[in-house]
Amino acid sequence: MQDNKVQIFDTTLRDGEQVPGCKLDTKQKLVIAERLDVLGVNVIEAGFPVSSPGDFNSVSEIAKIVKNATVCGLTRAVENDIKVAAEALKFANHPRIHTGIGTSDSHIKFKFNSTREAVIERAVKAVSYAKTFVEDVEFYAEDAGRTDNEFLARVCEAVIKAGATVLNIPDTTGYCLPEEYGAKIKYLRDNVKGVENVTLSCHCHNDLGMATANSISGVINGARQIECTINGIGERAGNTALEEVVMVLKQHPYLNLETSINTKLLYDTSIMVRESMGMPVQPNKAIVGANAFAHSSGIHQDGVIKNRETYEIMDPEDVGVTESAIVLTARSGRAALAYRAKKIGYELTKVQLDTAYTSFLNTADKQKEVKDKDIHAIMAEVNKISKIAML
Ligand code: KIV
Ligand code: ZN
Repeated sequence: MQDNKVQIFDTTLRDGEQVPGCKLDTKQKLVIAERLDVLGVNVIEAGFPVSSPGDFNSVSEIAKIVKNATVCGLTRAVENDIKVAAEALKFANHPRIHTGIGTSDSHIKFKFNSTREAVIERAVKAVSYAKTFVEDVEFYAEDAGRTDNEFLARVCEAVIKAGATVLNIPDTTGYCLPEEYGAKIKYLRDNVKGVENVTLSCHCHNDLGMATANSISGVINGARQIECTINGIGERAGNTALEEVVMVLKQHPYLNLETSINTKLLYDTSIMVRESMGMPVQPNKAIVGANAFAHSSGIHQDGVIKNRETYEIMDPEDVGVTESAIVLTARSGRAALAYRAKKIGYELTKVQLDTAYTSFLNTADKQKEVKDKDIHAIMAEVNKISKIAML
């Protein structure tokens, strides 16, 4: 694997789909899995096979149709989970079992009523057993974000010895600060024997709105896989949004980190996921929200009309959005009105624009947005006073 390549591990169909209301049937999951493969994700986490016969069937069908990506199934550190996942993945071109256990003191005490030593033993047993089915075994240290680094390093070293190929370091509760999460990855890189032979993976939740920042901090500090979902859907406040981390890396080329994602498919993929899951995306969502490339204040509109780069740090076409939108409101200026009028066929003189703008503000004060039909009406009024040149 090239050292500057960041693997994109998509868990829309597992961590994303486990959200209430986001449940999909197998047919819908197959459509999304095929799209993720075309999008260029490296790993598709297709589900949690032991959780239900329906999920088993979905993972199994996805394993059959995905051509390029690795297909992954989640398990607990439980023998039967691992056996069932291996069975579901048996037709995959590139199967991966994702097994693990909670490693924070809180999980060890309250979830397992166990000890650190016993948890290491269970982790090693799970990885060794998974290795009897597949070569590619990813281990997750659940709640690694709140796990003491020294103990986490011991867990990691033990599972590497047992054959883990990828170590997932989840910030399960979305608690870490970016510096802290990056330092955790660096600590593991500096202190775990054998770490140079495995991939460290970031799996960050968004409880404090820092999932993307934490994942980026993780790869800056040496992780080479990011686990994420389309539109950032997932447990509670969600997971790292795939479209965000991919575009952060693309728009900051000096980081010298790249992904294999075809970014022009991001917007369409976002629409596909929101429609099939019935999970709307907030308008101000980065990259794929309805307002991500819309400009509404007069100052911004004037800048964007002169040169898009004044207020846009990426080209909307790069993510599959056809163009930036100039939304006409009472905050818009003459430049925006003239721009929109020209788009729909009217070339105004300065005097005509002044007249039209007064009438435009009257309309804009009465409604949230001024649409093309309103502009046609305004132009008809102006035309009565002075003939407008038509384009
Ligand atoms: O958030 C988490 O810790 C997880 C693991 C099961 C990988 O989703
Ligand atoms: Zn998660």
